[in-house]
Amino acid sequence: MIKGNFPIEKLKALPTPFYYYDVELLKETLNVVKTEAGKYNYRIHYAVKANANPRILSLIAENGLGADCVSGGEIQAALKAGFPARKIVFAGVGKADWEIELGLDNNIFCFNVESVAELRVIREIAASKGKVAPVALRINPEIDAHTHAKITTGTKENKFGINLGQLNGVLKELLETNHLKLIGIHFHIGSQITDLAPFQSLLIRANEIQDDLEAQGIRLENINFGGGLGIDYYHPNHLPIAPFGNYFAAIHQLLKRRDGQEVRFEPGRSIAGPCGTLIARTLYVKEGETKRFAILDAGFTELIRPAMYDAYHRIENITSNEEVETYDVVGPICESSDVFGKDVELNKTRRGDLLALRSAGAYGEIMASQYNCRKLPVSYFSDTL
Ligand code: LLP
Repeated sequence: MIKGNFPIEKLKALPTPFYYYDVELLKETLNVVKTEAGKYNYRIHYAVKANANPRILSLIAENGLGADCVSGGEIQAALKAGFPARKIVFAGVGKADWEIELGLDNNIFCFNVESVAELRVIREIAASKGKVAPVALRINPEIDAHTHAKITTGTKENKFGINLGQLNGVLKELLETNHLKLIGIHFHIGSQITDLAPFQSLLIRANEIQDDLEAQGIRLENINFGGGLGIDYYHPNHLPIAPFGNYFAAIHQLLKRRDGQEVRFEPGRSIAGPCGTLIARTLYVKEGETKRFAILDAGFTELIRPAMYDAYHRIENITSNEEVETYDVVGPICESSDVFGKDVELNKTRRGDLLALRSAGAYGEIMASQYNCRKLPVSYFSDTL
């Protein structure tokens, strides 16, 4: 079986479970993103929600990317990691007053506003501080991203964004006050999108919206297409970097970009996903009547994606080269959904073997919980191990 390149002897010495990050891969990914986005002068705001590990955040900040935050906590983490406030965009359907104040006090780049109710509160808070809040309207483009139901966001009846039918009313209200400044529009249609077609539909919709707004005399300085570019969970060894080149080229081909207009993206998974691996030890191999279970010391408390989104993560036994057998790979949590994979082919597995759950750098460590009074996972990095 082809496996990732892991410093096995060093990993063996560490208590499991833990996250292991391949820093070289992250750096290479960032170089590709910068080169490909640079061709069109696109601005990249890393979606902090994917992974807010301080070391990962600083590596990304050092590379000059901006940040996309969805909470006050994320803004604080981004600032601490070295992202300049002027490169922070702040989205989220439920921004609390203190979070809005934090954004205003730090002069972040903009608030991606998701409803008229939120717009009014931002206006009030900005007015009380004698400030003007920079605002981008998050528009729900009514496009189905054809991804897992729990991570699609752009369809009509969705809590995210302002529906197209309500856009003019919201704009009217926005333009009437001098404590809000419209700087652009924002979209995000979903995550783990591996087919470019939904992005192409989004571009067509975005062009129409721009035309309509221009007809009303509104010119947009910024347009932000959110995140969503998927990664190849099935082939982490062959295809470790998301197809940024094709993606940006497709956007460039379709977008009717206005003179001087800035174009932004908020990738999360495609930046942080491939470089992270959850490493666990096999505690027991249980022979059932029809199945064989590999019971690990990691569960959905460390990586919830398989239980929550039926997500696939490639699993490799990195300490065995014996013949391949079939296992259900499960965790120790007292829930029947605590399964990482069914009928997984692994090199023969014994107690003490190390298993690698690949492509877990995005929405892995950050979604960990303490259910069953478990400890949050620790992390190690390839360059400091
Ligand atoms: N921008 C906005 C407004 C978002 O809501 C998201 C993700 C992103 C950017 C980043 O999207 P990405 O490039 O990572 O696809 N926990 C789920 C994914 C939830 C995504 C939520 N929003 C998972 O593990 O699959």
